[in-house]
Amino acid sequence: IYEQPESVVNTMRGRVNFENHEVTLGGLRGFTHIIRRARRIIFIACGTSYHSCLATRSIFEELNQIGTQAELASDFLDRASPIFRDDVCVFVSQSGETADTILAMRYCLERGALCVGVTNTVGSSISRETHCGVHINAGPEIGVASTKAYTSQYIALVMMALQLAEDTTSTKQRREEIIDGLYRLPGHIKEVLAIDGKLQQLAVDQLAHEKSLLILGRGYQNATCLEGALKIKEISYIHSEGILAGELKHGPLAL
Ligand code: UD1
Ligand code: BG6
Repeated sequence: IYEQPESVVNTMRGRVNFENHEVTLGGLRGFTHIIRRARRIIFIACGTSYHSCLATRSIFEELNQIGTQAELASDFLDRASPIFRDDVCVFVSQSGETADTILAMRYCLERGALCVGVTNTVGSSISRETHCGVHINAGPEIGVASTKAYTSQYIALVMMALQLAEDTTSTKQRREEIIDGLYRLPGHIKEVLAIDGKLQQLAVDQLAHEKSLLILGRGYQNATCLEGALKIKEISYIHSEGILAGELKHGPLAL
């Protein structure tokens, strides 16, 4: 968690030109014309990696006007979901070795879709077997629970959406705003980490003894809530649920 001011910079290093507002992902050059023509973009992942797909799906839809869906790899396989040659399937995995994500990738490769990897591990199965992709360069994720990989996956996916939209003049201003936001990001992360003492006190005084934590948000923050709840479960062993605030009336209020 504390490495994030540096790891997010490493993900963007050599790829984002903040002065010209340009993004270059070397691994996708030569494939962007195919991705732009896709009938659908389908993200497939598990756990935290799935949340980074949910978090960035709306940026893809907004900038590229291509129908974009996010799938949990296990559920995608259970449904034997139909995949076509003009689909682009994006496999997001920190390790590049999660069994369900690998099985889903092989399923999509067999059906002729362009398969794109977004992974932290050079030489992993997903890095090797996809047609093209992006290494997120976050550095080794030592803990089992993904932390800095989440922010780096998020940034890698945002960079991908920006690169795909680079020829559209109608989104130019919005893309520049997003790139300016990426420039400010390490500073924002430092500000949050600087109040870690207060956050720890809040956790100890008010949250640690609760049986269940419900985390609510909407829009861009829906994925933040799901990821926060997953992290609390994995690290604190407290029941936690991320809830889309628009669904407040449909169950959560009763709880
Ligand atoms: C690459 C080099 C980097 C170098 C830079 C210089 C590697 C791993 N990266 O980075 O060291 O500084 O050029 O320009 O040698 N790929 C997949 N699937 C994936 C992830 C990646 O097929 O899941 C492919 C990409 O399409 C690409 C290659 O792996 O062909 C490297 O990807 P990436 O490291 O993201 O490329 P660059 O950022 O250009
Ligand atoms: C495990 C980890 O459940 O696998 C999670 O504990 C991770 O943190 C998930 O998100 C998926 O892993 P990967 O390597 O495919 O991103």
